[in-house]
Amino acid sequence: MTSMLNVEPDIKLYDLHPPLDDFRAEVLNGLTRLQKSISPKFLYDKRGAELFDAICTLDEYYLTRTEVAILRTYASAIAELIGDGVLIEFGSGSSQKVRILLDAMSHLPTYVALDISKQHLQDSCRNLVNAYPGLETIAICTDYTQPLQLPVIPSIQNKHHVAFFPGSSIGNLQPEEAVQFLKNTVSLLHPNGSLLIGVDLKKSKDILEPAYDDAKGISAAFALNLLVHINRELGADFNLDQFGYRSFYNPVGRIEMYIISLADQVVRLNGIEIPFWKGETLRTEYSYKYSIEEFQTIAIASGFKPRTVWTDSQQLFSVHYLDLC
Ligand code: AVI
Repeated sequence: MTSMLNVEPDIKLYDLHPPLDDFRAEVLNGLTRLQKSISPKFLYDKRGAELFDAICTLDEYYLTRTEVAILRTYASAIAELIGDGVLIEFGSGSSQKVRILLDAMSHLPTYVALDISKQHLQDSCRNLVNAYPGLETIAICTDYTQPLQLPVIPSIQNKHHVAFFPGSSIGNLQPEEAVQFLKNTVSLLHPNGSLLIGVDLKKSKDILEPAYDDAKGISAAFALNLLVHINRELGADFNLDQFGYRSFYNPVGRIEMYIISLADQVVRLNGIEIPFWKGETLRTEYSYKYSIEEFQTIAIASGFKPRTVWTDSQQLFSVHYLDLC
């Protein structure tokens, strides 16, 4: 664990952001495969995080409002389960959903926010500390999909650790990666933690597909911003006018999202020429959808024991509370 940076008096920030060389190596690796692909974690530069926040407010994107409604409805039951533990949020983004839990708690727990976007993390933790004076806030800038150890913080030793992973971000991992992520979470929570996780449910593609290809084009802008991010950080020369966006539901149980080349063209990155043919795709994300039973099977295989699951009346979204086995 690197040392703590004291950038804000009330926030302890640990910067474990992976180096730029890792980004370059991963992008080059992904662009030289038969099916070009880049990890969705690179979608979240500052602009990407803002565009994702905009997606969350779209009419078509039912996920956020439905999960928020579930959390609001069951906030006091959830707060009781968490007690005066430590809340550890993976992919904290703008830290909005955690406020629903904090509002329902009589004792403010310690809040640990993990996110890959440092600027977004700092801004949202600052807003949170202003809204909840006295809340001990620890911000860790990291790729939380990798195994992780928490810094030694005396105030959280021996407390009930509750990992909070809202938004169905688990769906952006392939099922085997999801199991590995959940196993890493088991190690982080050991010996007596719990997991509160939002998981999008399977449903008609008439609801799913517009959620990932909205009328205002924000989902497309979010995907294409990946190319802007790569141009800026890695000095590539993607021409944004020559790429489009496409997504669809694959009945194996996932939405698939792609950037599509609109012409035969060559992109340069790090002195390497990367050819694209007209119509060739670059995968940016999968978004898996799970039935309650499918998700519980994965969670049990990873070392969790389901305790409670809440859903909305239309069965669009689920929020699971699980304990360690
Ligand atoms: C963050 N994650 C859960 C979103 C999803 O629904 O898969 C990412 C997203 N990509 C485009 N729209 C939303």
